[in-house]
Amino acid sequence: MLTVVEHPCISAKLTIMRDKNTPHREFRNCAEEITKFIAYEALKNIELENVEIETPLEPMIGKKVKNEMILIPILRAGLGMTDTILDLIPTARTGFVGLYRADDHETIVEYFCKLPECNKDALAIIVDPMLATGNSLVAAIDLVKKHGFSKIIAITILSAPEGVNEITTKHPDVKLYTGALDRGLNENNYILPGLGDAGDRIFGTK
Ligand code: URA
Repeated sequence: MLTVVEHPCISAKLTIMRDKNTPHREFRNCAEEITKFIAYEALKNIELENVEIETPLEPMIGKKVKNEMILIPILRAGLGMTDTILDLIPTARTGFVGLYRADDHETIVEYFCKLPECNKDALAIIVDPMLATGNSLVAAIDLVKKHGFSKIIAITILSAPEGVNEITTKHPDVKLYTGALDRGLNENNYILPGLGDAGDRIFGTK
């Protein structure tokens, strides 16, 4: 299921990210801020449980997050979304999935996978700024499921309809949250109008 998180701040910051003249520091800041907006929405319905506490004045029943959460950035661009989500849920554990698109721009190569050893009830939050063909995210979800996790959400900043279609077809149980749905893909599977290569722009590689 897809949720496009609509908010004027997301639109404005995304416009800054799309602008090819935006320097990498500003690009990265905007990516972090947009991620926070989307994560607020994505985490809106997580399960809470009662906890007994005492305020300075009296006892009360408060709430705490019921299940563990694991954050899984897809390397490398997903790293640009990691710290901001850890600010929101500092108790989350972090796992890493390393995938890259081969020169044919199609084949996905897995080069790293390290997921936390924790209760399989944990909510797995996979993050990657760009959902283009959906091949990387499908591969990441496959891996996360293979490790026994079944509660999975995915957060992207920008998505193409082709990628959304791929996820909703292959992993209909995964809730997908994104900041905007663009027009489609070009012949090299870049999102149009898009924002270019998110990893390069976050880290200033090019
Ligand atoms: N990955 C990117 O960084 N940008 C795209 O447009 C598509 C995939």
